[in-house]
Amino acid sequence: MNSFSVKNVNQIFGTGTAKVHVLHDVNFEADPGSLSLIMGPSGSGKSTFLTIAGGLLTPTSGTVKVNGISYNERSKKERDALRLDSIGFVLQEYHLLPYLTIADQFKLVDKVKPNGNLSPDELDDVLETLGIKSLLNKYPAELSGGQQQRVAIARALYPNPAIILADEPTAALDSSRVSVVAALLKNLAVKHNKAVVVVTHDARLIESADHLYEMSDGYLSVKEPVNNY
Ligand SMILES: Nc1ncnc2c1ncn2[C@@H]1O[C@H](COP(=O)(O)OP(=O)(O)OP(=O)(O)O)[C@@H](O)[C@H]1O
Ligand SMILES: [Mg+2]
Repeated sequence: MNSFSVKNVNQIFGTGTAKVHVLHDVNFEADPGSLSLIMGPSGSGKSTFLTIAGGLLTPTSGTVKVNGISYNERSKKERDALRLDSIGFVLQEYHLLPYLTIADQFKLVDKVKPNGNLSPDELDDVLETLGIKSLLNKYPAELSGGQQQRVAIARALYPNPAIILADEPTAALDSSRVSVVAALLKNLAVKHNKAVVVVTHDARLIESADHLYEMSDGYLSVKEPVNNY
């Protein structure tokens, strides 16, 4: 369950002379229990791929299926429910609400999705692991970039999604925090049987990956299998 597949996806932005072909016949699959890493330079199409994979953007052509059903076969209501219940996004911009304390960012999730979220103890563990427990009463503007990034990761994990899509989740973190986040994502895949997909240009994540892909000018290719240590 909660497998995930992308078939022959093309994305073209703009029209006429302003037309840019950003993704070319992209194929991709992710199964529960694995961490897939998509590496690629800036502008290669990683964020575009991830927003299409998560159903936030409909591709120009091609299909994205979650649990064997494509987004276009679902009504808008069903897509919204799927995203709410099953997909956790860690977006490149952190999307924390400026007028809510960190604690209230989690309470807001409870309002939108009252059931199936992490228990208080489980959330406590995640906050502890990420080193952000002492920040609960602060507002996003009072946090450093790296702290905001870790809060955004915790908030994406809080609804306990089966699929986690993370866009540059370590860009603002120093090496020790990168190891913590890499271990956390790996643990979610392996111990909690989630499908975790990370797009990044951070090579420090490679050793945690089960599957490694490269995005280059909108073409996705498989890299050599990764040896897990
Ligand atoms: N809404 C849009 N309209 C037009 N062009 C876009 C749009 N979104 C992205 N692009 C273009 O698509 C290309 C890929 O962008 P994308 O954000 O997917 O790259 P990325 O690999 O995530 O880069 P980065 O590592 O800098 O985040 C870029 O050339 C970008 O300018
Ligand atoms: Mg990006």
